[in-house]
Amino acid sequence: MKKKIVAICGSTRQNSINLELLEIIAQLYQETIDFETVTNLDKIPHFNPDLDNPTDVPSQVLAFRNQLKSSDAILICTPEYAMGVPGTLKNAIDWTVSSMEFSHKPTALITASTSGEKGHASLLETLKVIEAKIDEKTSLLISTPRTKIKDGEITDEGILLRVKELIENLV
Ligand SMILES: Cc1cc2nc3c(=O)[nH]c(=O)nc-3n(C[C@H](O)[C@H](O)[C@H](O)COP(=O)(O)O)c2cc1C
Repeated sequence: MKKKIVAICGSTRQNSINLELLEIIAQLYQETIDFETVTNLDKIPHFNPDLDNPTDVPSQVLAFRNQLKSSDAILICTPEYAMGVPGTLKNAIDWTVSSMEFSHKPTALITASTSGEKGHASLLETLKVIEAKIDEKTSLLISTPRTKIKDGEITDEGILLRVKELIENLV
């Protein structure tokens, strides 16, 4: 049976290199993995602990949580913004702290960003504290991604190998 991976893009930009990378990965593994891409991070309301209870949780948050819950694994692909994690992505993750969808869930993080070190390290800390199952085999930093990914292909051989290893370790 095909595995289901929920793919979360940390960029909401239409021409996002992170979204392009998720599409390339989905294509590479189309025979064995169903990728369900989360495309509406910017529609998830601002996290407010006062709303984080059974009667007030917004419907978009419930849908996001259910998507994560029903997956075999989670793949996050994101840029770094201003030396940190993009706000929309961090906001969505904050909604899962109490509901614990990441807890013990196989998770991979690819940061594809001009530099990206700080955002990558920061998100790894966040994922560890919410008990995501992630390690060095399922995390990858791709700096200057536009020189390594072009026209729907990963053109850098080393990065292609690392991406494949990451997905194989994830599933
Ligand atoms: C508001 C903003 C802040 C950014 N800050 C950083 C940064 O701190 N570090 C970095 O590596 N790239 C930064 N970038 C550049 C992004 O890495 C680059 O635009 C990347 O391609 C964005 O990913 P995307 O193509 O998936 O949208 C920033 C871009 C924007 C729009």
